[in-house]
Amino acid sequence: EPRFAQFKLVLLGESAVGKSSIVHRFVTDSFDDLRESTIGAAFLTQTIQLDERTTIKFEIWDTAGQERYKSLAPMYYRNANCALVAYDITQESSLDRAKSWIQELQKQASADIVVALVGNKLDLEAERKVSTKEAKEYADELGLIFKEISAKTGEGIKDVFHSIASKLPVE
Ligand code: GTP
Ligand code: MG
Repeated sequence: EPRFAQFKLVLLGESAVGKSSIVHRFVTDSFDDLRESTIGAAFLTQTIQLDERTTIKFEIWDTAGQERYKSLAPMYYRNANCALVAYDITQESSLDRAKSWIQELQKQASADIVVALVGNKLDLEAERKVSTKEAKEYADELGLIFKEISAKTGEGIKDVFHSIASKLPVE
């Protein structure tokens, strides 16, 4: 028999790592080179077919990464079932910021939250500053999903949302 479940997903990460671009690639399969920085947060939904009988609806809170919005984040992650924490593979500092979001989630979010660490802008391989190994070892230690993706080309985007969905509890 068919199964349907919906889950709240929160996107976290430093400003300009590409959170909004990731969610727009996932929801509308498009990319905008001139995307404006998010104000407050944005809400989007997307439904995927996980397997022949399982449909998953994501209710997505795309948070604003600018420092001045930091205090709003708990409103969005508090009752989230899953979190996508993004960094930019060309900005070393963005991985540090991602790690501090992950720490905060581990302290403040639901104990069974499914967390994915994603390195975005994989199309900018020539400008890479964060090695795959460094980020993957960190993610593996904490039992997080880990992917490198590109919102620009779409590489790895569906894959990461499917990986998250497959770890969520569907009755
Ligand atoms: P805030 O809303 O301020 O937190 O930023 P954000 O994380 O939502 O970043 P956003 O999606 O607005 O992207 C920031 C910039 O990076 C934009 O100019 C995007 O076009 C660009 N960008 C996003 N993803 C990619 C990517 O995969 N590759 C490349 N080359 N550029 C990207
Ligand atoms: Mg944004």
